[in-house]
Amino acid sequence: MIDFQGIIEDITRNLKSIEDRGTVASYIPELAIANKHKFGIHLIDSQNNSYSAGDAEEAFSIQSISKVLSLAQAMGVVDNKLWKRVSVEPSGDPFNHLSLLEMENGIPRNPLINAGALVVCDVLISQLKNPKEDFLTFVRNIANEPTIHYDEKVALSEKRTGFKNYAAAYLLKSYGNLENDVDTVLDFYFHQCSLAMSCKQLAKLFYIFMNRGKCLREKEYLNINQVKRINALMLTCGFYDEAGEFAFEVGLPGKSGVGGGIAALLPDQYCVVTWSPGLNQKGNSKLGMLALEQLTTRTGLSIF
Ligand code: DON
Repeated sequence: MIDFQGIIEDITRNLKSIEDRGTVASYIPELAIANKHKFGIHLIDSQNNSYSAGDAEEAFSIQSISKVLSLAQAMGVVDNKLWKRVSVEPSGDPFNHLSLLEMENGIPRNPLINAGALVVCDVLISQLKNPKEDFLTFVRNIANEPTIHYDEKVALSEKRTGFKNYAAAYLLKSYGNLENDVDTVLDFYFHQCSLAMSCKQLAKLFYIFMNRGKCLREKEYLNINQVKRINALMLTCGFYDEAGEFAFEVGLPGKSGVGGGIAALLPDQYCVVTWSPGLNQKGNSKLGMLALEQLTTRTGLSIF
């Protein structure tokens, strides 16, 4: 049996002495207040044992990690119809890059870059009665965590400064790939990204991607084919132009966010979430990547 607790405590100790912790995202002003010295990690194995170290119970802004959750809800509702409007190829570009979108006539490369996530939001707005409430309920129910919430300050902060997302949404609209108003779609997207939760709560959510679509209470949210596809997208697109590096160093499907979180999983074995707000130059958590590299190297547990 692997000593997950011992290993993650050791990793947390090793990372403490690292001085260069990257840079906290500041293009969303409200994220700039995060403390670079925080580090948390939480792991849940397939037997539902939990292991924690560091600041694993402190809520942070999950940002782009939320794109996997909205994708999961959209696939549950429209399933494969989604692929008429969003492609499934890695972009090799930063998450907010626009040039490919124009070159490819308003069809985003994949649902994990911003343009693709905006199309997923549009689908949910068209399909759900009360999109923001229904999405939050979906997330809370999977994790069985009723305190997960939108951080209105973060959502407002991005609404004021998210100009590239406005540009992406208008471009999508110009190509006929948004059914709803640009402002409605962006309001939903900024809220989705503002979801605040801890490593522990996020790991309970990512359990469904590890456990073939079933949550910790064994309720099925996604079928096995949908989970296969979501995990494939995380592996190839979850870290934007650093997806190759993450596969190379860590070797797990996963998703990062500019709040400093990374959620990753090994199908049927474990899911793990790290949080450290300092980012590397590609916008992914610096210590989070190092921690996960150490985890898969020391346990020998990666998809490769
Ligand atoms: O749209 C944005 O720029 C942010 N709400 C989310 C970006 C993000 O987290 C990218 N991930 N590494």
